Formats: sequence, C-alpha cells, structure tokens
Amino acid sequence: YTPNQSSLIDLYEKAAELFSHVLLNTKLGENALSYLKQRGLSEKEIKDFNIGFAAPEQDLLLSFFKEHKIDDKTMAESGLFIETSEHELRDRFFNRIIFPIKDSNGKIVAFSGRSLVKDPNHPKYLNSPETSIFNKGKVLYNFFQARSEIIQSKTVILYEGFMDVIAAHRANVKNGIATMGTSLTEDHINAINRVADRVIICFDGDEPGQRAIARAIELFRNDSNLQISVVFIPDNLDPDEFVKQRGVESFQSLMKQTGESSTSFLLKYDRMGLNLANENDQLEYLKKALARIGGLKDALEQDLYLNQLSDEFGIDKGDLKDQLRESVADRL
Ligand code: UTP
Ligand code: MN
Ligand code: MN
Ligand code: MN
Ligand code: MN
Repeated sequence: YTPNQSSLIDLYEKAAELFSHVLLNTKLGENALSYLKQRGLSEKEIKDFNIGFAAPEQDLLLSFFKEHKIDDKTMAESGLFIETSEHELRDRFFNRIIFPIKDSNGKIVAFSGRSLVKDPNHPKYLNSPETSIFNKGKVLYNFFQARSEIIQSKTVILYEGFMDVIAAHRANVKNGIATMGTSLTEDHINAINRVADRVIICFDGDEPGQRAIARAIELFRNDSNLQISVVFIPDNLDPDEFVKQRGVESFQSLMKQTGESSTSFLLKYDRMGLNLANENDQLEYLKKALARIGGLKDALEQDLYLNQLSDEFGIDKGDLKDQLRESVADRL
C-alpha cells in the first residue's frame, strides 16, 4: 500500500469502529439492531462480520473525524463523504446498516450501506465509490475471511449478496463469498481460480439470478479451468431467505447435493418459459439444447446429454448426433 492508501485504510478502520459502536452500544442504533436480529443475525455474527450502523442524523462521522483531527484530504478521498455545492463535506451514509468490505489482505477498503426502509427513490444498498484502493470489479465480499475454508475444501461458493454469505455461515457453510450483485468480472474469476478447483454458483433463485447464473457459467468456462456446478435455490428465494424460511438443515442438505452440473442447469434454463407440450416449443428447445451440447468440449459429456435428450423426446440418438454435427458445421 502507498502511504496514501494506508491513511485511507486507517480511516476506514476508525469509521468501522464508530459504526459498530453506534449499532451495538447506543440508543441511535436500537432500531437497526432489532432489524438485524429480526433477520436472524446474532450479536456474534454482527461482530464477526463487523457490521455497523450509520445513524439517521447526518454528519456523525464527519464530526467524529474532525474531533480526531483526520486531515481533510484523506477524508475527501475516502468516498465516505459527499461534497456539497458549497464545498462542504457531508456524510455519505446515514440511516443505513453498514457492511465493511475487505480486500484480500483483510483490510477494509469500502463500505456498503443497506437502507432500513423500502424506498423507490434510493438504492437498497449504497456503496462506497471507487477509490485508489477500491474497485468493485476486483473485490469479492468475504474472500479474506473464507480463505482458509476455501483452500481446505478447494471449493468456492459464490453468492450474490452480503446476507447470503452470512446466512450460509450460520449454517456452517463457511467457504462462501459474494460478487455483491451479479456482475462477475474476469478479475473475480482469476482470484477464485487461484485458490480453488471448483466453484458452486449459488445466486438468487429469481429471474435475474437465473440469468446471472447462465452468464456466470459462460464466463467461468471461458476464463478458468474451474469445475463449475450450480446449487439452485427454489421458489424464487435467495439463499438468505431460504435459510430463514426453511432452516439451516434444509440449506445444508441443499448444499450437500453436490450441485447440478453447469450443462444441466443451462439445459433447464433454456426450457424455462417454453411449453414442451407444444411442438414448436419442443423444436425450439431441441435446437437450443443441441447448440449447448455441441459447444461442449468433452465427448463423453456430449454423449451423456444426447442420451438424456433422446430418452426424453423419444428421438433416435443417431439422428440427434447427425443434427449436432450439422449444427456445429453450420457454425464453422
Ligand atoms: P439483492 O437485490 O439480491 O439484495 O442484491 P439482497 O442481497 O438479497 O439484499 P437483502 O437480503 O434484501 O438485504 C444482491 C447484492 O447486490 C448488491 C448488494 O451487494 C446485494 O447484497 N446490491 C444490491 C447493490 O450493490 N445495490 C443495490 O441497490 C442492490
Ligand atoms: Mn486451480
Ligand atoms: Mn438478487
Ligand atoms: Mn438477494
Ligand atoms: Mn436477500
């Protein structure tokens, strides 16, 4: 770290301490604390994940830093303040639950704040802006803390969000990290590829989540040699909601089904929204499925899924193979 970056890290450390203090020990934090407890978090988890609260009254952080004689330049660069048109600093985060985001060395480099109320005019999670040490496309939530579990199991479980990582942790599944949304990058993939042999994608079960799974599979295939599987969360739930509604044991057994292969997920994804009782839809699906299967590098794998298609639709496997060769030839 440059001296400049180290000053930022010191500042974030102090900010996290203040946020945590406000949440756990003050009247200002009472509502937020009961919100988190309602969502199933214990005080231990709140401490383990360094969660805090930015109080509703603005500029608590600003006055705290002024008292501690933090220099203006570091404050301005930290991203924790916004500048008014009169060039005054004001707290960026207020009335939000604060999740510190750590880099791969375990240093806090950013924060994300969750709003306590549903409000269409403000984002659910407000994030620190990019700084000289924070690039959202490079950081994975909980990567540092999960590192030893990941190395031991050789496996990364990839979630979308903070609460998913924490809920899984509660279920004793501790090799989880999150993209903080769904935009997986090549840098994320490289970081995962360096420490694991296998990735289990466990995004939200809703429509955007499903789309993100399909996209993530393509990216992992292109940019890594990781073994890819999917644990699909049913009923439009996300992992956190699943743990809350069905309990930790159901989540554990979901995770124990080693997950479905990425191809099997993609084939399921391709048929969503299609009515396979309808012949046009059947044909559409068969074409999509053959394109998927044609894209597989492993002949054995191709064979496995051709067999499945042949069984399901009662089509001769030889015919499917011919069709596969033709469609591959078409694309060349
Ligand atoms: P989700 O919309 O699935 O939220 O976004 P969530 O994690 O389930 O949030 P809860 O459970 O309602 O608290 C997944 C992740 O995307 C990022 C956050 O990291 C979030 O955890 N996100 C989401 C943002 O950065 N900004 C947003 O406005 C929303
Ligand atoms: Mn590897
Ligand atoms: Mn989501
Ligand atoms: Mn979610
Ligand atoms: Mn959620």
